Amino acid sequence: MIRRFDYGTPLPTDALVKEAPLCTEAIPFFEVTAGEGGITFTHRLGKDDLIYGLGETVRGINKRGHLYRSWNSDEFSHHEDKQSLYASHNLLIFSGDGKPFGVFFDDPGEVVFDLGYTRADTASVTGVNGDMRVILIEEDSLNAIVRVFRGLIGQSYLPPKWAFGYIQSRWGYAADSEVRAIVQEHRSRHIPLDGVCMDIDYMVDYKDFSWNEQSFPDLAGLCSDMKKDHIRLIPIIDAGVKQQDGYEVCDEGLRNGYFCTYENGEPFVGAVWPGRSYFPDFFRPEVRQWFGRKYHKLMDAGVEGFWNDMNEPALFYSEAGLAEARQELTRLMDMNLGLDAFFHLKDVLMGMQNKREDYESFYHRYAGQKVRHDRVHNLYGGFMTRAAAEGLAEYEPEKRHLLFSRASYVGAHRWGGVWQGDNTSWWSHILMNLKMLPSLNMCGFLYTGADLGGFSGNTTEDLLLRWLQLGIFTPLMRNHSALGTREQEIYRFGMQEDMRKVLTVRYALLPYLYSEFMKCALTGDSMFRPLAFDYPQDPACLRIEDQLMLGGECMIAPVYEQNARGRNVYLPEDMLLVRFRSAEDYCLIPMEKGRHWIDLDLNELPLFIRKGCVIPMSRGGEWVEAVDFTDLTLLGWLEGEASYAFYNDDGMDAAPVLEKGLQTIRCKVEGGKAIAAGEGLRLDASKVIVG
Ligand code: NOJ
Repeated sequence: MIRRFDYGTPLPTDALVKEAPLCTEAIPFFEVTAGEGGITFTHRLGKDDLIYGLGETVRGINKRGHLYRSWNSDEFSHHEDKQSLYASHNLLIFSGDGKPFGVFFDDPGEVVFDLGYTRADTASVTGVNGDMRVILIEEDSLNAIVRVFRGLIGQSYLPPKWAFGYIQSRWGYAADSEVRAIVQEHRSRHIPLDGVCMDIDYMVDYKDFSWNEQSFPDLAGLCSDMKKDHIRLIPIIDAGVKQQDGYEVCDEGLRNGYFCTYENGEPFVGAVWPGRSYFPDFFRPEVRQWFGRKYHKLMDAGVEGFWNDMNEPALFYSEAGLAEARQELTRLMDMNLGLDAFFHLKDVLMGMQNKREDYESFYHRYAGQKVRHDRVHNLYGGFMTRAAAEGLAEYEPEKRHLLFSRASYVGAHRWGGVWQGDNTSWWSHILMNLKMLPSLNMCGFLYTGADLGGFSGNTTEDLLLRWLQLGIFTPLMRNHSALGTREQEIYRFGMQEDMRKVLTVRYALLPYLYSEFMKCALTGDSMFRPLAFDYPQDPACLRIEDQLMLGGECMIAPVYEQNARGRNVYLPEDMLLVRFRSAEDYCLIPMEKGRHWIDLDLNELPLFIRKGCVIPMSRGGEWVEAVDFTDLTLLGWLEGEASYAFYNDDGMDAAPVLEKGLQTIRCKVEGGKAIAAGEGLRLDASKVIVG
């Protein structure tokens, strides 16, 4: 059952694609109070209640016990006490003794989620704007709540098939020759690769839609050479447009009044990588169309994918903030800086960045009104993604393009994927990234993944190897690192052969991973789910935070601790452990439901397949197009028969139809051996364990 409750005059967010029926009675489960600080919804928690949701956030899959704040932030250090990251995904799902229920707090401004932080027995949600649209979903199961919510928010973004390949990225690739060398290093060592990201270094003075013609003298030639080698280039686009006379994006934006403005109508200026910049008012359709069409310039050169960054929007400083800081610095200059003055000085400097007052100083034209930015802050990044998605679709309507963003709100999942932002080369961040996956899926963000190896800090080879062992299961599989950190491409390390072999598993599993992704995107299911969602009756599953269900058949449980040579795993039912070293080198171990210690050497990764299920595996390839999706080995453990609903398509069609791409793979045991059949497929069932 879906019900909508409106309080005040909620601003539109574009999150829902379907109308939810309005209910004028009092909302159940919550006490509602309104005051100076906004509108608050309070719910009394039972001792053992769990709370899921919130998409991209730090800490557990169960969000209970902490304070979260929806306020899209340029947050480069993901400590566990951080309240906000880059996204606002305001869905909560409460699970306790009674029927579970989901609540979506659809508000584009700041929303504070105190989930048993102030009082262990109380969850309260405060919308600072004071107006709020609440969508309440009651269903019999946690998975059903997600499915209903996903139906309301619309179909998730579909990337092209090649975007499921391995992508190499680093802030600092500054020349054509460097990109070619990276590709060559991968190809010569047979390390699979499908894409290379170009970070801000390809631009001239960090100007969007420009490229440095000294270091990239022939971008079209580079794209075409890369394409011949089955590699796509994926340039970054930032939200801020450099303030510079003669720079066409700046000139056009000013001429047409396309940028956000101060209250007096003058264009707002904030600084990012290029220095002083303007910010397109993505809330307006004509601005989205204008900005979206700018991507065509790079597409004319052969680009088929982009990543949108700094679109919270990040602000290093504003004119007002800089002036204030200058004044304070002058005052402090002649002082003998004691404890208070010294820390004040530090705050003055650090406080210039992403300052609240700056977000309160500019305006959008939105839904026929002039709206102060802070009231709709969390929509900005998603609307930038929408601008890009519409521009890309206009260029080639029949085709899917790669697009992922840093900032988002629910609704942006229809326009692009998200990466999980600036993590650190810490072991704890493997687990953090794992925990975000099911929460992101609940909110529609299926095409996602983390910076493998870690963005900031220096990685180690064992860390990268273990991170890749999780990354092979995430739809976006990208190794990305920050300028100035240790070089992190696979071929830099002694363990490169082990890493290469991990990647062979990814490419071999692509038919399964792609099939599961597409089915989930087209039906509204989650690709990654907490165990509690699939086994609600099993108390052992309720609090497992380091294993996930993957697709309809599998469970993953990666190693995420340094020097570990295995890990504890809970099997909610009998499962087949596939212990992979590579796509060719793996062993199959049937295991019974219950707790187990699994030995896993550094070069080994586990995949668990539910007994009674089979999954398809290809022979792999060094790029996605080389993978034969029709020549398949089945993996599984069977007594009688099983079937697998296999989805495949050309990987490009912008409007694929589920039924057209689906076919059934049947497998059954006959005479003590498994045999398989599927139309148009070559199937080998010799790796299906019988018994
Ligand atoms: C911040 C992004 O999160 C990061 O991935 C990127 O490398 C830097 N901006 C530089 O563009």
